[in-house]
Amino acid sequence: MQDRNQFKLTIVGPGAMGCLLAATLNKQDCPVSILDYKPDRAERLKKAGIQVVSSKEAWTAFPNVTAEPESLSPQDWVIVFVKAAQTADAVKRIGPLIGPGTLVVSLQNGIGHEFTLSKTVKPEQIALGATSQGATLLNEGHVRHAGSGPTTLGLVIHNPEAKDRLISLATLLNNSGWPSQIVEDIYPHIWRKLIVNVGINALTALCGLANGKLPQHPESLRLQKLAVAEAWTLSLKKDIALGLSLEEAHNIVNSVCKATAENRSSMLQDRIKKRPTEIDYINGAITRMGKELGVATPVNEVLTLLVRLNSRLGWKNPV
Ligand code: PAF
Repeated sequence: MQDRNQFKLTIVGPGAMGCLLAATLNKQDCPVSILDYKPDRAERLKKAGIQVVSSKEAWTAFPNVTAEPESLSPQDWVIVFVKAAQTADAVKRIGPLIGPGTLVVSLQNGIGHEFTLSKTVKPEQIALGATSQGATLLNEGHVRHAGSGPTTLGLVIHNPEAKDRLISLATLLNNSGWPSQIVEDIYPHIWRKLIVNVGINALTALCGLANGKLPQHPESLRLQKLAVAEAWTLSLKKDIALGLSLEEAHNIVNSVCKATAENRSSMLQDRIKKRPTEIDYINGAITRMGKELGVATPVNEVLTLLVRLNSRLGWKNPV
């Protein structure tokens, strides 16, 4: 692996997860940049730094933050952590960061990001990942690290050069205390994460509950199980090698609820901040694929419609 002071790594998006990863790497003296699209926020974050608090520690890191892609030459790794709906806009801005050897890694929630990324990046330079890290953006550049867990990475298309770069990235992440592994087939992992998000995100947003509370109420637990069962059935229909029985899928969702008990899911955070949600890339994607493949997904459709409606009403329904 090249000298950690020589490489170039940019994280696109200063949200909860982007800030957490940038601060985690920066804490180990890794030179990291964050690419924002708002110049005023980038300036503030650069000056004030990124503050992280967890149950164990608190620290402030000072990564480079910029809103000018031209100021960043081609990178070794570009890690995309923007909200799913912002991927298309982010992709238009990352051109100056992409060289022949750059690896672009999407660690976003939801499904299908490789198709949006491939409008600017060659598929053989794209990797996808699923992370179980939990983070809450308390306010600008201020993150609570709510729970740690493994990150799994894999290429979209086999490419030996890109694989070497992905191995170096996993080594760097592991050495920085962000446990990571590489797999040959990333799609079962993307689907496992999708199933976790299907079972947690919309329900926490609609009910205003932290992740750990969902299994404690019989109604939210039942809805979670129904939504997860639909996604699981769809994964079988799509021949995804999930390697999980339905019971195991329920157990994984349940254990993520426990491991990130205090966390407000990203969709609940979107609700609180009145930002667009990722519903169309999570439960909405299940409904869309279900319609294409003839798999019934009524619970995911209801969750999708309720989140969309509440979003449109600004999450307050006037009487
Ligand atoms: O979107 C999220 O919030 C996270 O993916 C997860 C794992 C559900 C934890 O909150």
